[in-house]
Amino acid sequence: AAGKSKSARGLRFGAVAPNTADQVTVPEGYGQNVVIRWGEPILRGAPAFDPDNQTAKAQAGQFGYNNDFLSLLPLGHGRQLLVANHEYTDEVLMFKGYDPENPTREQVEISWAAHGLGVVVVEENRRTGALTAVTRHQLNRRITATTEFRLQGPAAGSDLVKTSADPSGTKVLGTLNNCSGGTTPWGTTLHGEENFNQYFANASRTTDKRYGLGTGASERKWERFDKRFDVAQEPNEPHRFGYVVELDPYDPESTPVKHTAIGRFKHEGATIRLTDDGRPVVYSGDDERFDYFYKFVSSKRMRRGNSRAAREHNMTLLDEGTLYVAKLTGDSPAEQIDGSGKHPEDGQFDGSGEWIPLATATADGAESHVEGMSAEEVFVFTRLAGDKAGATKMDRPEDIEASPRTGKVYVALTNNTDRGKSGKAGADEANPRNANKHGQILELTERRGAADAKKFGWLLFLVAGDPQDPATYFGGFPKDQVSPISCPDNVTFDPHGNLWISTDGAQLGSHDGLFGAAVQGGRRGELKQFLTVPIGAETCGPVVQDRRVLVAVQHPGEVDGASVEKPASAWPDGPGKLVRPSVVSVWRKDGRDIGV
Ligand code: FEO
Ligand code: CA
Ligand code: CA
Ligand code: CA
Repeated sequence: AAGKSKSARGLRFGAVAPNTADQVTVPEGYGQNVVIRWGEPILRGAPAFDPDNQTAKAQAGQFGYNNDFLSLLPLGHGRQLLVANHEYTDEVLMFKGYDPENPTREQVEISWAAHGLGVVVVEENRRTGALTAVTRHQLNRRITATTEFRLQGPAAGSDLVKTSADPSGTKVLGTLNNCSGGTTPWGTTLHGEENFNQYFANASRTTDKRYGLGTGASERKWERFDKRFDVAQEPNEPHRFGYVVELDPYDPESTPVKHTAIGRFKHEGATIRLTDDGRPVVYSGDDERFDYFYKFVSSKRMRRGNSRAAREHNMTLLDEGTLYVAKLTGDSPAEQIDGSGKHPEDGQFDGSGEWIPLATATADGAESHVEGMSAEEVFVFTRLAGDKAGATKMDRPEDIEASPRTGKVYVALTNNTDRGKSGKAGADEANPRNANKHGQILELTERRGAADAKKFGWLLFLVAGDPQDPATYFGGFPKDQVSPISCPDNVTFDPHGNLWISTDGAQLGSHDGLFGAAVQGGRRGELKQFLTVPIGAETCGPVVQDRRVLVAVQHPGEVDGASVEKPASAWPDGPGKLVRPSVVSVWRKDGRDIGV
C-alpha cells in the first residue's frame, strides 16, 4: 500500500491493511473513542441502558439503533451538535429470546422508538482528544417513528396522502429508514427515507410493486400493533414515506418536515449546493438496482442570517422548484462495452448527460412534465415518472456529493449483481460490468459548472475492486499503490478537497471501511484506507474535519444466524455484552491535522 510522506495532502497516513479484526482499526499514531452507543441516555429523565429491562419509554430518551448518516454542526466553546440517523432495527440482536413470528407490543414499541433521528451535543476533551456526549443537554432530541412531521410541498394535502387519521394529508407520524443525508448551508439537516417498503404489509397495487412493498405480512409485524402499517386498511400511509426529511436541530421545539417536491423514492440521502444566485440544488440517489438519480433545483433564494424569519423562510426553500432525473449517454460505440469491464478504445468510460424535468412546483400549484401523470402523481410515484422519462438505469445510486472546491459531483454506485441477467438491462458505459459486485463512482461535471445546468458531462472516476483485476480503475493512478475497495456507499469531502468513501458489504473478503481519495492534481486517483470496522458492520456517516474523523459503525454483528444468545461480534464492549451500533471518533495523537 501507499507510502506515507509522498501522498496527497490530507492522505499522509499509513494505509490500514484489509483485515477481519473485530474492532475499529485506525492508522498508526491515531487514537479513537466511542462517542455514543445505542441505548445511552441523552434526554433528561432517561435511564441508563439496561439490556434486561428495555422499555419503549426508556428508548425514546436514549440514542437510537443503527446510526447511519452523521452531521456535526457548530455550537462554539469546543462543542458541536451531532445529528445521527437511526436507519433501522435488528431485533434479534436487540432482544433476548426474540421470536420474529411473535413480537410483543413492548418490543415493537421499542423498535419504533429506536428508529428516527438523534440530536446530541458533543464536546472535545482537549487533554485526550476524545469526543464525548453531553447527556441531558437542552438541545438533545430524539425523533422516532411516532414523532409528528409536517408534509410540505406540492403533494401535501393531496388525496394521495390523506389517511383516516389525517384527513388533511399534512401530518405524518414518524420517519423510517433514514439512511444518509446532508447538511444545508442554512444550518439544518436533511435525511433520506430509504427502504420504507419493508414496514408495510398487504400491498398489492402496481405502484406498490414498483416500490417493493410486499403482499403478505411485514418482516417486523408492526401491522398487528398499528393498522397504518397495513396497506389493505390504510392504503395511503406508505405514500407518506420515501421523502427527504428536514430537521432544524438548533430548535428542539421545531416540527420536522417532509419535502414532497424532491420526490418519493428510496432516497439514499440528499445533499445540497447553491446556484450562483443562492438557490439550493439537491442531489439524491434512489438506492435500488436499475433505479435512477435525481436533482431538484429550487426557485427560491436562501436568506442569510439566523433570524427566526430567515430560518422559517429557509425551511420552505425545498418546496418550490423543478425535479429532474438523470439520463446518461456513453460516447463509445455500444459494442465496445461488453460487460466485462474492459475499457473501450477511447480509454474511458465517459459521455454526456441531460437532466430531464419531471415536474415543477410553484407557490400557486404544480405542473407535470410527464405525459399521462399529474404533478401530484409525479411527486408521489416518482419512480414511475422516471420510467416514463427514459432515465438511465443505474447500479444502485447511493450517496452523491458535489466537491466544494471544483463543483464536480460524485455519485457512488454501490453494486448491481443483477446487471446483465436475463430480462434485466445489460452493461452500458456508465454501468459497464455485468454481475457488478464491487461498484463504481461516477464524476459528473455540470455544464459551465452551473449547479442548475440542464446538461452535464461524466466519467467513471473509480471502478472498484481488487486493483489486480484489470477491470478496475483508480482515476488513472498507478494501481500497485492503492488500497483495494468494494461497494462504495457514503461519500464526503475533507478540508483539502479529497473525497472520502465508506463502504457497505465489501466483497473482497475483508471488512468494510473508510477510504480517502485524491480527486485533483498529480495524485488524482490515489486511494488509501483509513479505517476498518468490526465483524458484520458497515461504515457510515463519515465526517472529516481538520482534526477529527467521525464514523457511524452500523449493524456490527449482523451476520446470518446471529442473535443476542449467539453473537457474531463482541464490539464495542467485549464478550458477554450486547453488540451495540455506535459512533466512533478518530484523531491524531500528536494533535496535528488528519493526514498532513
Ligand atoms: Fe441504506 Fe443505500 O444504504
Ligand atoms: Ca468512452
Ligand atoms: Ca447507505
Ligand atoms: Ca448501504
